[in-house]
Amino acid sequence: MYSQSAKYYDALYRSLGKDYVQEAQRIKEIAAERCRSGGNDLLDIACGTGKHIEYLRDTYRCEGLDVDRTMLDIARERNPGMQFHLGDMIGFNLGKKFDVITCLFGAISYAPNVQRLDQSIQTFARHLKPGGAVIVEPWLRPEEWKDGFVQALYVDEPDLKVARMSVSRRDANVSILNFHYMVASRDGIRTFTEPHRLTLFTPDEYLNAFRKAGLFVQYEENHGFSARGLYVGYSRAE
Ligand SMILES: C[S@@+](CC[C@H](N)C(=O)[O-])C[C@H]1O[C@@H](n2cnc3c(N)ncnc32)[C@H](O)[C@@H]1O
Repeated sequence: MYSQSAKYYDALYRSLGKDYVQEAQRIKEIAAERCRSGGNDLLDIACGTGKHIEYLRDTYRCEGLDVDRTMLDIARERNPGMQFHLGDMIGFNLGKKFDVITCLFGAISYAPNVQRLDQSIQTFARHLKPGGAVIVEPWLRPEEWKDGFVQALYVDEPDLKVARMSVSRRDANVSILNFHYMVASRDGIRTFTEPHRLTLFTPDEYLNAFRKAGLFVQYEENHGFSARGLYVGYSRAE
């Protein structure tokens, strides 16, 4: 899904001013408030290029998991010595439990329907120590999605120019983004397209997924991330 664009991912979001330092700081604050399991093992699910882990690893013993090998290669290079797992968030088994589990930047919405969302959060819960916390940053709500929205991102760095364009579409509760890329580097110019399908889950669907997984959950509207807020699930300490 990101295999062609992975190496431009960080430059694209740098151009947008995405602030991983501040986001990692907020994760630490939320975890300090919510987490009662007493350890410092953190799993970042759908970790992408490992940018959050880069700023979390001074506080937590971090591991990452992602379904895309190309993203994981970049995450490994960025975070030497940390463990990264190739896996699908919907159902994986690492054979260990964590104090903090994160799934950020809307990655959860790659779950294609409510049943898969529920399975994903159950998988997260199975990897959580008693008293641990799960922090999920959702994708947009159904009413927030604008069909026909024209979007473009540009990277303008000395040896790299990228234009990424899309016109948003919708198929029932699935948002469809066909990203068209044009990339110029010293190797030349190439173009390619990557399709993404992200489910527009409702707040109730998120909240119910946590509850069905046996977790307490709170929606934190304003937590220093995007306007989408964060779902914070936690389990009772033993
Ligand atoms: C928008 S990126 C977010 C990456 C990272 N969390 C960040 O904040 O920069 C979405 C990530 O979700 C991953 N992903 C999508 N579906 C997945 C799945 N079923 N299981 C695990 N990772 C998945 C993609 O490979 C990609 O790295």
